[in-house]
Amino acid sequence: MNGLPALSDLVVNPDMELARALYELVLVPAFPPDELESWDTLRSCLLADHNEPGNAFATVLLDATDSAPIAGTVSYWYPQSRTWLLGYLAVDSRYRRRGVAPCLIADTVSRWAASDETLLGVAEMENPCCFPDEAAKSRARMYIRVHGRVLATDFVQPRVDPDKDRVSGMLLVCLYAAPEALVGDQSATVRSGLTHAFIAEYFQVAEGSGQPTETAS
Ligand SMILES: CC(C)(COP(=O)(O)OP(=O)(O)OC[C@H]1O[C@@H](n2cnc3c(N)ncnc32)[C@H](O)[C@@H]1OP(=O)(O)O)[C@@H](O)C(=O)NCCC(=O)NCCS
Repeated sequence: MNGLPALSDLVVNPDMELARALYELVLVPAFPPDELESWDTLRSCLLADHNEPGNAFATVLLDATDSAPIAGTVSYWYPQSRTWLLGYLAVDSRYRRRGVAPCLIADTVSRWAASDETLLGVAEMENPCCFPDEAAKSRARMYIRVHGRVLATDFVQPRVDPDKDRVSGMLLVCLYAAPEALVGDQSATVRSGLTHAFIAEYFQVAEGSGQPTETAS
């Protein structure tokens, strides 16, 4: 990462101590409570077997001087729809606006694409029409820069924990699609059945229901 002399290692599949430091120091300050699952939930996803729906891997970027986490990602695997979800992406506020997040996205997408199992890689994003603050617009520009394509509008994020609310006004964005995921050989369009299969599996794993019928308040 050129121009970032303070940054050091990118750790993949961190130990639980480092994963907890990523959670406390980077994710908690970066996300509203309803969008962030508890540490216990994240921990069990990171420790789950790869074949278990919702199992996760994390990447953590460390500061060179004190090895503290300054950015990271968490990806969740949905085996029936063969889809990775970029559940969390965050950069410590002191290190933003330097291109760290696009580098982390590129690294994560290349890890998803390295497996023949992967059909889709997606992310959730606040729709700037529903969240008209500058941060939501900036995130939308970031996903455009990394060639994200909107798969579903009016997307509702399921509860990340039983005591949290659903989050409406989201967009589901495609960051990676294998050739098998596309409609026809020459198309860049993702098969709608696959998108629906992922959403159903995502709700089933998160809430025990395949139908996102109830909207967020
Ligand atoms: C969203 C987030 C991950 C972006 O991380 P980042 O590393 O700052 O991303 P970028 O480097 O692409 O920078 C974003 C902005 O800085 C600008 N920028 C990037 N490199 C720059 C540089 N070298 N000099 C000046 N500006 C730069 C970008 O152009 C972009 O500006 P824009 O808003 O006008 O488009 C970070 O803001 C964050 O952690 N937010 C809280 C958590 C969150 O919202 N996560 C995403 C969930 S969808």
